Amino acid sequence: MSTSTTASSIGQPLSRIDGPAKVTGRAKYAAEHAADGLAYGWVVSSAIAKGKVKAIHEEAARAVPGVIEILTHKNRPHVAWFDRSYRDQVAPPGEPFRALYDDEIKFSFQPLALVLAKTLEAARAAAALLRIDYIQEEPNTDFENSLEKAYVPPKKRSGIPAPASRGDAQKALDEAHLKVTADYASAAHHHNPMEMHATTVIYGSDGALTVYDKTQGSQNVKSYLVGVFGLANDKVTVRNPYVGGAFGSGLRPHYQVYLATMAALYLKRSARVTLTRQQMVSHVRRPETFQSMALGASEAGGLQSIINSAVTATSTFEDYQENVVNWGVGAYRCADAAADYKLVALDTPTPGDMRAPGAATGMTLFECAMDELSYAVGVDPLQLRLLNYAEVDPISGNPFTSKALREAYDIGAERFGWGKRPSEPRAMRDGNELTGWGMATGMWDATFQKTSARARISANGGLEVATAASDIGTGTYTIIAQVASETLGLPTANIDVKIGDSDLPASPIEGGSWMAASSSAAVQLACQSLGTRLFEAAQDLDGSPFKDIKFEAVSFNDGRIIAKDDPSRFLSITDIMKRADLPSLEVVETAGPGLSGMVSQVKKARATHSAIFAEVKVDDELGVVRVTRIVVAVAAGRILNPKTARSQIMGGVVMGMGMALHEESMMDTRFGRPMNHNFAEYHIPVNADIHGIDVIFVEEEDKEVSPLGVKGLGEIGIVGTAAAIASAVFHATGTRVRKFPITLDKLI
Ligand code: MOS
Repeated sequence: MSTSTTASSIGQPLSRIDGPAKVTGRAKYAAEHAADGLAYGWVVSSAIAKGKVKAIHEEAARAVPGVIEILTHKNRPHVAWFDRSYRDQVAPPGEPFRALYDDEIKFSFQPLALVLAKTLEAARAAAALLRIDYIQEEPNTDFENSLEKAYVPPKKRSGIPAPASRGDAQKALDEAHLKVTADYASAAHHHNPMEMHATTVIYGSDGALTVYDKTQGSQNVKSYLVGVFGLANDKVTVRNPYVGGAFGSGLRPHYQVYLATMAALYLKRSARVTLTRQQMVSHVRRPETFQSMALGASEAGGLQSIINSAVTATSTFEDYQENVVNWGVGAYRCADAAADYKLVALDTPTPGDMRAPGAATGMTLFECAMDELSYAVGVDPLQLRLLNYAEVDPISGNPFTSKALREAYDIGAERFGWGKRPSEPRAMRDGNELTGWGMATGMWDATFQKTSARARISANGGLEVATAASDIGTGTYTIIAQVASETLGLPTANIDVKIGDSDLPASPIEGGSWMAASSSAAVQLACQSLGTRLFEAAQDLDGSPFKDIKFEAVSFNDGRIIAKDDPSRFLSITDIMKRADLPSLEVVETAGPGLSGMVSQVKKARATHSAIFAEVKVDDELGVVRVTRIVVAVAAGRILNPKTARSQIMGGVVMGMGMALHEESMMDTRFGRPMNHNFAEYHIPVNADIHGIDVIFVEEEDKEVSPLGVKGLGEIGIVGTAAAIASAVFHATGTRVRKFPITLDKLI
């Protein structure tokens, strides 16, 4: 099939098709769905981080008019997972936290009661009157002072590669001409999506549940609810048609969906639970990360040894793990490398995946050490990367399906003006401000996952494409429409994209930057298959113009099937449907590695790369840092939509700026309680902090990474960005800050 290029074709900067619904308020989010007799839940959170609930005094709260019920560990219903364990798709090894299970308190802000009332105001007022007596124990939430207690996780988290070592890194380090050792740390971060974690459970007359949840995977939440409550499969539908950002916070089902469902089943009425910003921030975080690196190099700067050790935080009940260390040992050519990874268990909730989990910290901190090496060797930071460029994956030894990182370095450096960079720090001054230029490499996985999609055309020529994918603000709706539009030659106005519903054909959770590659493959396959069926129907018609030609000889354009070599021979899709007496035509197809003749899992490395260049200006007296310019060149395969793609990279870069300069979750370790669990005190970059962000796509033609050659863009933008900024700060000031964020107190 082939079509002509239209505004909605693949590769065109189509604006979001869900944009109008979002800006006019027609797009409804999890807490905005109405239901008759809705019970509003308000969660009462633990004031202590460790100990037991001694008593809960409910009288005053129960006396508030409108209160329906107060659920605590004493009166909550018995549910299936009290008798058997259930772990969601994304759960790390361990026992997931079960809200209201017993009197034990494992972390601050642990939900201890759910107040249900006829109005939100009544629930909140009653919650404020609930008095809880505690038996307190001493919590440990001090990551930095617990590093000596770090342990190797006994059970690996699925999907996380084991630390990869090769050769004899210690011997190579001992023999290296030059050594750089550096310990780096990054604060815990919070996702801070706009939409709160919220769930509305609509209780049907037959007891069936329709659950609107803020999640990145409706089918993950559905199987979770079926598993933990022991429900029949056909009694639960989970929907997330619109998601107000997530950044990983919506990968696992959180306690609000559990509590809202428990309440609905218990009360036999619809129920909603929305977390407050404080509750949300206090429940999910990117873990605190410590990384220790030793690099050995030749006189000329050739890497001879890499030793990369990391420790991240987890909870006492789950061993949450990330791939932190393999980025460093996998980024450059080097014969000898060693990696190890440990955890520190704290009395906190289990950390969770946040945008580029492991790489945002691991690769970034490693790149900071590479910057240090460049000064130690006396080689330009970009030259150092080129000198050690990995033509094949250093860990597996396999070639890459594609790797245009060299081109990204070249194009980015050219655009930035890197060639004019003075090598010495403190060499550029602009009044009170010192100017610095820095750079770093970014890397992330390019993954393609098994995904199903349905395509249905109706007699009037309207096309519906459906898959249980999520759009967390990334542009899934739009790229699906583009792929369908191009494949069947229909304008997007005729295409209805249905996603965000557990009843739709199976899709992976939206995460890991695999959604675009996976959903585009499934949608393309379904539309191609539908096109074949339409063509066959057209061939069967009396006097068909296609009697003597093959499918390969037609194209789909403007709602018609047209013979390529004779445009006068055509049939419109609506004509075909009408003449063949078809009310509709529907197909479901599954795309996946090795399926339907698709890209097989050849032994190759699959990765997205980026080159980030940063300019900062630092007030020499006050230490205030401004990021005045970022140029990022991204090699991410084929770009389906440069507009939504650019937004993904910009968002990632802004988050990287936050990591570099602003974002720091602060724990009051005396009480084990987060201190800055709100937007006022947890700082993120605001508009005034953002200046030029120049995004360049270095397109790669890659037939092996995924069917459409797509690699994914959701996460690469954050990886390495903070290292480029830190490198620029050093270049400006001569001060090396090894603990993120680089706040002004560390510079003066
Ligand atoms: Mo991403 S942290 O896999 O949503």
